[in-house]
This record gives sequence, C-alpha cells and structure tokens, in this order.
Amino acid sequence: MRLSAIAVVLLAACGPSSSVDEGLGLVGDLDTSEAGIIAFVRDGRYTSWLAEPAPRDSVRSHGPRVRVFFNDVLAESLRAGNRTHPLGSVTVKELYDSEGRTLRGHALDVKIAEGAGKDTWIFFEGLGPDYDDNYYGRGHSTCHGCHASNGRDYVATPLPE
Ligand code: HEC
Repeated sequence: MRLSAIAVVLLAACGPSSSVDEGLGLVGDLDTSEAGIIAFVRDGRYTSWLAEPAPRDSVRSHGPRVRVFFNDVLAESLRAGNRTHPLGSVTVKELYDSEGRTLRGHALDVKIAEGAGKDTWIFFEGLGPDYDDNYYGRGHSTCHGCHASNGRDYVATPLPE
C-alpha cells in the first residue's frame, strides 16, 4: 500500500510538465517559453559556446552520453566560484546515444532571476526530432532536487578548461 503510494507520487513527479510558457519573456536573447527553447536548441544557437570537447559518459543521469555547453555569463560566474549565478546564465546539455554519435535531444537550464533557490531557474529537457513531450518549467519538480544536491546553484558540471 505504502509502496504503491510512493510509486504514484514518483510517476506524477516524473511526467512532463503541461505548462508551456512561464511568462518570463526574453532572458538575454533567449525566448524562455517552451517553444522558444525548442527553437533555440533546434537551431543550435549554443554551439559556439564554451563546451566539453566531445560527448562523454554521463555521470548520474541524462545517459548514456552527453556534452555540456556554457554561455559566457555562466562560464564567468563559474570561474569566479560564485555561490549563485547571475540572471542570464544558461547551460545546455546535448544528449547522445550510447555511441556518442547521434544527437537525440537536449537539456537546458536558464537562470531567470537573481538569488538562490529552484525558482530562479527554468529547466527543460526533450528529445528530437519532435520535442513534443518535454520537461519544461520554473523550478521543475523532476530536475531541481537532484541538481540542488549535485551542484552549486543547481549547476553540476565543472567548467571544461
Ligand atoms: C538523478 C539526478 C538528476 C536529475 C533528476 C536531473 N539531473 Fe541534470 N544533471 C545531473 C548531474 C549529476 C549532472 C552533471 C553530471 C553529468 O553531466 O553527467 C547533470 C547535468 C545537467 C545539465 C548540464 C549542466 C549542469 O547543471 O551540470 C543540464 C542542463 C541538466 N542536467 C538538466 C536537467 C534537467 C532539465 C532535468 C529535469 C528534466 C534534470 N537535469 C534532472 C543529475 C540530474
């Protein structure tokens, strides 16, 4: 009885968000609606950012292979060792198949407010080519807990340098 109750809670927490726009508009030049983020990752508008050199094994989730990108705002903040990152920090994680050759989807975190706490981030994760069943939301329940315990201000990947 108790176990099945937990299973139901987990299922509910893991399902994609039905929300499609947190209504926060542009952060930097990124449209933070779900559609805006999908267009952004589809167009590869992050590919010139500082990045890990190649797809690598995923550490804990988002498997099997991943490659992480950091925009300038976040890279500078990580270099400075800040406890919280400034508004406009963005990190993108490319999600690959087990060979590390085929790009299957993207995860992305956008800092949408100054300060601490899960609600200062929008979290997104989805698989192409359709991106029609995504995780999207401010302080998304599927993402924030694990990132709070694995990262500093929710960022878990060290800067590649
Ligand atoms: C079970 C724990 C866990 C969950 C749940 C999780 N992540 Fe992560 N995530 C990690 C870890 C650990 C890393 C860094 C290690 C790695 O890259 O393999 C990471 C890395 C990332 C990165 C690269 C930047 C960074 O913060 O290090 C993004 C973007 C990301 N996750 C987005 C998401 C989104 C969006 C969700 C929810 C849909 C999510 N994650 C759920 C554990 C998790």
